[in-house]
Amino acid sequence: MNINGTPTRTLRAHPGQRLIDIIDQTRLPHALHWLRVATLDEAAHAIRAMQVRGAPLIGATAAYGLAIALSSDASNTHLQHAAEVLRSTRPTAVNLHWALARMESLLQPLAAEQRCAAAWLEAGAIAEEDVLQNAAIGQHGLAIFRQIRHRQPGTLNIMTHCNAGWLATVDWGTALSPVYAAHDAGLAVHVWVSETRPRNQGLLTAWELAQHGVPHTLIADNAAGILMRSGHVDAVIVGADRIAANGDVANKVGTYLKALSCADNNVPFYVAAPRSTLDFACPDGASIPIEEREADEFRRVHGLDAHGALSALQQLPVGEAVANPAFDVTPARLVTAIITERGACPPDQLTTLYPEHADA
Ligand code: MRU
Repeated sequence: MNINGTPTRTLRAHPGQRLIDIIDQTRLPHALHWLRVATLDEAAHAIRAMQVRGAPLIGATAAYGLAIALSSDASNTHLQHAAEVLRSTRPTAVNLHWALARMESLLQPLAAEQRCAAAWLEAGAIAEEDVLQNAAIGQHGLAIFRQIRHRQPGTLNIMTHCNAGWLATVDWGTALSPVYAAHDAGLAVHVWVSETRPRNQGLLTAWELAQHGVPHTLIADNAAGILMRSGHVDAVIVGADRIAANGDVANKVGTYLKALSCADNNVPFYVAAPRSTLDFACPDGASIPIEEREADEFRRVHGLDAHGALSALQQLPVGEAVANPAFDVTPARLVTAIITERGACPPDQLTTLYPEHADA
């Protein structure tokens, strides 16, 4: 994706120096600040505190976190310890677990002195694959957008929830990849960006769409229904944190309500995700762990004060009870199609794209 006209990735690896640079997403959209991650604890903190976030980027960061950890101690004990520390950071996005399992199965059998170099190479491969897979998702999604546009000429109005864009991946995004592909191909596209309380990832989406020059409008989460009802939405496209074998989709809380509204208004509801988000070992949505995040995310609002400094305001009376589930599950029956790097299919037919998992 372009930042100030320059193609930029969200994660920069420096294998020679045994460290990576990430964008501190807790400071966006107000400041673009790169952060150096040079220790296992810094990598784990970056994921837990959501300095990096979004399922594919969490996976890539965890892989590099393991490589960083092995740079100081490549023993078997430390490999297991580091993988456990990283695995415990966030529960819902399966990409984290997928990336760590892939790294461990490669590294475990190697001699300790071979592990560090192999870990940096494998983390790099995971990052590269993410970029290529997201680009492919963009082309498959673009084909769907063209079909919709063929039926309904004019500007294509796409709605999205949370941030499943460039910032949630190493490059391009999942749900936003088809949007960038459409925009770059000259298709007139406008995006309704849902704010996504309480962490407001919609502001990240608006920020990155603006960087790339894609027309968009921010809406409060609760405005999605009226926009669909009044015919202002041609399709909804979201990302995913984990897709179960039966096609149930875990994504940012509020996704389910959008899918319900789509069903009532005949608006197609698409989910875009790479292979690393598919969990063929998970039978259905009820088996997906849903992260409950700290109440402070809900109690405080963040923004710039009158002096332009980033600050937080307490919005609730002290002692008010708060529940803060970070994700919800959209049942497969509400999903029109899942778009992956291999193409698009109905949610309950994922094995047509991945026949190697047909017996899972
Ligand atoms: O809690 P977050 O911000 O990490 O949640 C992100 C989402 O739910 C995204 O929609 C999902 O990871 C898809 S990202 C390509």
